[in-house]
Amino acid sequence: MAHAGSERESGETKDDELRLSEAEIAVHWKEEEYFHPVPKFVGQANLTDPAVMERFSEKNFPECFREYADLLTWDKYWTTTLDTSKAPFWKWFVGGRLNVSYNCVDRHLAKYGNKAAIVWASEAEDEPIVSITYQELYVRVNEMAALLRDFCGLKTGDRVTIHMPMVPELPITMLACARLGVIHSVVFGGFSGEACGARIVDSKSHVLVTMDGYYRSGKLLDHKVNADIAVKKAESEGQKVEKVLVWKRFHDKLSSPTPMVAGRDYFVNEELKKFRGVLVAPISMPAEAPLFLMYTSGSTGKPKGCQHSTGGYLAYVTGTSRWIQDIHPTDNYWCMADIGWITGHSYIVYGPLALAATSVMYEGVPTYPDAGRPWRIAERLGVNIFHTSPTAIRMLRKLGPDEPKKYHYNFKSMTTVGEPIEPEAWLWYYHTVGRGQAAITDTWWQTENGGFLCSTKPAIDPMKPGSTGPPVPGIFPIVYDEHGKEIPAGSGKAGNICIRNPWPGLFQTIWGDDERFVKQYYAKYNSNKSSKDWRDWPYFAGDGAVWAKDGYIRILGRVDDVINVAGHRLGTKELESACLTVSEVAEAAVVPIVDPERGRVPEVYIAVKPGTKASAEEVAAKVTLAIETSIGKIARPRAVRIVPDMPKTRSGKIMRRVLASISNHMDYGDITTLSNPEVVEQIRVQVQGAGPVEKKVGPEDIRRFGETT
Ligand code: WT7
Repeated sequence: MAHAGSERESGETKDDELRLSEAEIAVHWKEEEYFHPVPKFVGQANLTDPAVMERFSEKNFPECFREYADLLTWDKYWTTTLDTSKAPFWKWFVGGRLNVSYNCVDRHLAKYGNKAAIVWASEAEDEPIVSITYQELYVRVNEMAALLRDFCGLKTGDRVTIHMPMVPELPITMLACARLGVIHSVVFGGFSGEACGARIVDSKSHVLVTMDGYYRSGKLLDHKVNADIAVKKAESEGQKVEKVLVWKRFHDKLSSPTPMVAGRDYFVNEELKKFRGVLVAPISMPAEAPLFLMYTSGSTGKPKGCQHSTGGYLAYVTGTSRWIQDIHPTDNYWCMADIGWITGHSYIVYGPLALAATSVMYEGVPTYPDAGRPWRIAERLGVNIFHTSPTAIRMLRKLGPDEPKKYHYNFKSMTTVGEPIEPEAWLWYYHTVGRGQAAITDTWWQTENGGFLCSTKPAIDPMKPGSTGPPVPGIFPIVYDEHGKEIPAGSGKAGNICIRNPWPGLFQTIWGDDERFVKQYYAKYNSNKSSKDWRDWPYFAGDGAVWAKDGYIRILGRVDDVINVAGHRLGTKELESACLTVSEVAEAAVVPIVDPERGRVPEVYIAVKPGTKASAEEVAAKVTLAIETSIGKIARPRAVRIVPDMPKTRSGKIMRRVLASISNHMDYGDITTLSNPEVVEQIRVQVQGAGPVEKKVGPEDIRRFGETT
């Protein structure tokens, strides 16, 4: 394979970046023993046939994915399973037509109309649980679709931005959009108004759907205020928002003091009354039509709108929900993620509802009011499948290591997603949360991917703490070195993990930026730009990985300028641009520091403009505020360090690697080629104090890691 399109800049190579992320994990973890699923789980599992890997082998690709598509109800069956004629813009199930809201709601009415589709728990523990049957969901989705169509004038292909907390009205709004073929763009509720505004601009939405307020850590937050900021930001960039639809958190009172703007803002609860009982025929959409956009951070300052398809996406999340999550219609499934992230789209809303399961939603913070909360919810609602992130597991363990023992719930399977999980946290999840009875799936995938790429098949493969597992059926990974040479499984060396083949859940493009799509995900390992053979287009995931002899993959973390904070991606460039909005700031560099709970958190280095009068504390406070305003509290830095100068290469590039090493108390390696090596020691003393050089991890550890795996 040729090595094309990868940019190298003087002084810092991609190899350095890869090594850094490896090192952070390498020293703590060793290969673990296997754990086998219990017979009770295996006996009821959806996927027990070991021949599945043969059915989904390369020789049966792409037709194998018919098995997933056949889980759906099609208005018109497709003619071509995979069309590669516009590589790498793959098209799945071409010629087929279907509607997503029909598949997630209408088709279940005959058999499951009176069964709960969504069960919701408020953060306020004394507020009653809300159960919505498939029948009621059907009525509410129809009424909302009627409102979007007739009151807002929305039609197939339009975009709607949704900035909402974790309430049932969020999936109702999404499904109403899907019913009309309107493309939704859900922005995580914790993102700031400005961040929401930027996404309104990029997606060119004329309608914003929001909610007045919601509970977070015991406080009723004013959320409507963010809508005003978002609309203002969008309008300042030329995107007019015509209507702001505001759901009320409580039907009988208002939860926000922010005034409504006449002629622009409308309470959904009021307007819906005009659409009581109206039915909207689901629009039969081409399999290839976009279903939604989900913005994620990349290595530039601008978030990317990942465009997901209708047929391929729904087939993939339904298939993986069935086989990997082991969801049956009788299951009470709870994924604790937020619907504002891809995990929530695929594995709270679309996958579970397509399978007629009961999907539990929780409004608030897992540890509110105490670390027993999730287990009380599980007990009360009879949750038997549980899905969360390593960050949540670490926090629940830290605050309530023995809490799960106090409650009567029974998990048959549990999932983790979002970051590597260290064996210690895995073992607590397994023994204490799952009581040694639940099969764990550690699922590796990304916003771009729609659904799982690697995971154990829970009734077939043993679990191995710290490793995501083998690829799921129909996914063919490969690990490359920087030069496009394959690193074979079992060699013990780390490299860039790629997926050799397209799959139905893979996103279609970056909204409005086909060029960036090709450059970011394919250019690195593509050898022939005009090839229409999928084999020439490995998908570059941007993660470092080691593939062990037993076929299990261990994900080491991002190899690009992306920081994974508590399982969510933040681009360092986005944070740095926020810092640069502070007038005193001349230069900003953001680096990841290892955090025992949140995986990574950002730390900021700032060089101020000459003549700055403000104190370091004042500048630091302004920088933190700027980050919270332009992105949200999730991006709040651990520390803001005002330094005399940035360490730079002779060509003027800031050496983030050196700063990251200092922040993480690691050896910063050779700095003799810098233009200002003396500043490194000054910064080190500022951060670590005047003692001797600390050295926790260095290149030797990395090499040792490579050899012993
Ligand atoms: C990045 C994607 C779609 C899942 C939610 C996050 C990291 C994800 C794992 C895992 C190790 C993982 C990767 C990936 N990641 N799952 N099981 N083990 N790392 O989606 O925000 O798009 O982030 O999360 O680094 O590239 P995302």
